[in-house]
Amino acid sequence: MTPQEYDYLRDFLRGQSGLDLSDDKRYLVEARLGPVARRAGIADLSALIGALKLGGDMKLRTSVVEAMTTNESSFFRDRTPFDHFKDVIVPHMLQKRATKRGIKVWCAAASTGQEPYSLAISSREDSRLNAWHLDILATDIAETVMDRGKAGIYSQFEVQRGLPIQLLVKYFTQQGDMWELDPSIRRMVRWQKQNLLANFTALGRFDVVFCRNVLIYFDRPTKTEVLSRIADALEPDGYLILGAAETVVGLSDRFEAQPNCRGLYRPLPKSAVVPAMPGLRAVGQVA
Ligand SMILES: C[S@@+](CC[C@H](N)C(=O)[O-])C[C@H]1O[C@@H](n2cnc3c(N)ncnc32)[C@H](O)[C@@H]1O
Repeated sequence: MTPQEYDYLRDFLRGQSGLDLSDDKRYLVEARLGPVARRAGIADLSALIGALKLGGDMKLRTSVVEAMTTNESSFFRDRTPFDHFKDVIVPHMLQKRATKRGIKVWCAAASTGQEPYSLAISSREDSRLNAWHLDILATDIAETVMDRGKAGIYSQFEVQRGLPIQLLVKYFTQQGDMWELDPSIRRMVRWQKQNLLANFTALGRFDVVFCRNVLIYFDRPTKTEVLSRIADALEPDGYLILGAAETVVGLSDRFEAQPNCRGLYRPLPKSAVVPAMPGLRAVGQVA
């Protein structure tokens, strides 16, 4: 792969999925795209990039984008976001959605499903939500990982990471080396393909958005743009939860951090956004 070919691939991936590859990721590209080329019967990476340049084969383009995603996830990953959900978000919603008795949650980069299923399990365990409906939408750019999520079948290694043993026994059935999630929990989650770079207004509005461990792969302007559209997708009293290594600080003024709750944010109305320059009115601000 020549430096020019590597640059082409970087631009291609940035445009397709937002992935911002640094100069030193050639080894990663070779490790991930070598198998894609082999499966497609293409001689090497140069030929693969040549085929991308021709543009036509959608299946190949999708395989390249999916192969370059990092799909690492685990049940109750980092624990704190799920504590925020139980201790801050649920009490708020119990009050504010008492008539509706429903909470709409979007897991915006759900990968193989551990995040939405952790939420489904914790809400099933929460007696305060007994007569409530938790509507969980799980989306991702990569269909291959979503297929795994929809199936709800996990390896011994995957269920050992973060899932308390009593929840494993209660909600999973062992099948040889694998563990199958209870269909009643699986049915609590709807799946849909969604690229965060594309317009997502059709998904509707949400009380809670989990957008964890995906923004880290994007460049700054893309992070800012996606955060702004997530702010628009949240109810005014909704919540955003980011990953442990992510923040809105320096990227978006559409959110305010919740004191003493790391990674938890609430959207600000556009009119509350302070203009970047004195004398200029913020977008949407009423005179
Ligand atoms: C590291 S996983 C995070 C999974 C889960 N949120 C968690 O924290 O455990 C990142 C996921 O983001 C998805 N992804 C990457 N780029 C995306 C994009 N542009 N739109 C939607 N999902 C994307 C990947 O396919 C991958 O499944």
